[in-house]
Amino acid sequence: MTKIGIIGAGAMGTGIAQVAATAGHEVYLYDANADALQRAITTLRNTLDMLAQKGKMTESAADTIFRRFHFVEKKLDSLRDCGLIIEAIIENLDVKKGLFDQLQEVIAPDCMLATNTSSLSVTSIASACREPQRVLGIHFFNPAPLMKLVEIIPAIQTNGKIVEQAQAIIQSWNKTTVIAKDTPGFIVNRVARPFYGEALRIYEEGIADIATIDWAMKEVGGFKMGPFELMDFIGHDVNYTVTETIFQAFFYDPRYKPSFSQKRLVEAGYLGKKSGRGFYDYNENVIKPRPNEDAVLCETIFERIGVMLINEAADAVFWKVATKEDIDLAMTLGVNYPKGLLKWADEWGIDTIVKTLDDLYHVYHEDRYRCSPLLRKMAKVKETFY
Ligand code: NAI
Repeated sequence: MTKIGIIGAGAMGTGIAQVAATAGHEVYLYDANADALQRAITTLRNTLDMLAQKGKMTESAADTIFRRFHFVEKKLDSLRDCGLIIEAIIENLDVKKGLFDQLQEVIAPDCMLATNTSSLSVTSIASACREPQRVLGIHFFNPAPLMKLVEIIPAIQTNGKIVEQAQAIIQSWNKTTVIAKDTPGFIVNRVARPFYGEALRIYEEGIADIATIDWAMKEVGGFKMGPFELMDFIGHDVNYTVTETIFQAFFYDPRYKPSFSQKRLVEAGYLGKKSGRGFYDYNENVIKPRPNEDAVLCETIFERIGVMLINEAADAVFWKVATKEDIDLAMTLGVNYPKGLLKWADEWGIDTIVKTLDDLYHVYHEDRYRCSPLLRKMAKVKETFY
């Protein structure tokens, strides 16, 4: 079986290593920081022991899986026999490019090189290699062992065969793959922006408080978590940075404009659950999503965020970021949306969505509410997605 190299033993690298070793591969896990590697060893051992205790696998299976790990502290050339190397280091373009430049000196000629970047250009990372055709994006979701979805992102230089081979390996790990064009945020991190952005907008305008918005999205919309709970859970440093990166990467398209409320939380160090305080206070007086008797208000909140999500998904189809099927699959498996957004669009009626977006545009005259040309064209000829 192909030997797998993982570079970066943080949250993502450790999770991906667990997935690969469980699927039967020898895994070479490298980190430049000895403490991080030590933490990964402890995490992997504890996780496998816990799975054995819970009866998800036998103790001997857990030991067998653990023996497949090779923890590499200093020598990058220990990864020379790997058929696939997945990079999951810090989200910094120059550092990633430096690593890929270094890697090409030590790896096998037929080794595939993947980056797990969330928001950087795969094409730009690939350009650091003499053979950029062997580089692609393989984007796992957190926690990697639990999340079914993996986005596969060919760079413009990537050889089609490499995409097929990488996809086959990842599918053999019991993951569902979708193909995304190398554009900012790929599928999930692009299409999900309005879930946060429009919720923040509704809050900042004073239309409703966070507890009501969260409640509406859960109760009316059927989402597992409300936008503010989810941002607190992800961490505002992470969530805000992704928004800002995507905003810049889209040449400052107002649709992706970050929010001052969230920026202030980051500046204050109110990073969310991990720091005890974000939008909610986790130390005392936790205000949970709260029922609101104003059914019209709750319906309006859900509709407004819903149409913005659908518009973003439709625009991703329009710009050929991915197929409609892959977009719906990505949002249900990558961020647990209750339903595919384009399926939802059909149910709500394309006409209704266009009208709701146009009504918002009419009020604000802001580009963020512009309706995707695809929806407009579809409404004209009464077409549906499915
Ligand atoms: P992390 O901070 O938990 O881990 C990064 C690890 O890389 C650290 O252990 C660090 O010591 C190591 N590292 C940094 N520079 C290195 C270098 N030059 N050589 C070797 N090791 C180096 O980060 P996390 O969250 O695991 O993210 C890793 C990558 O995965 C990033 O590109 C991130 O955007 C992406 N990602 C993160 C997700 C998340 O929810 N955390 C989800 C999907 C992708």
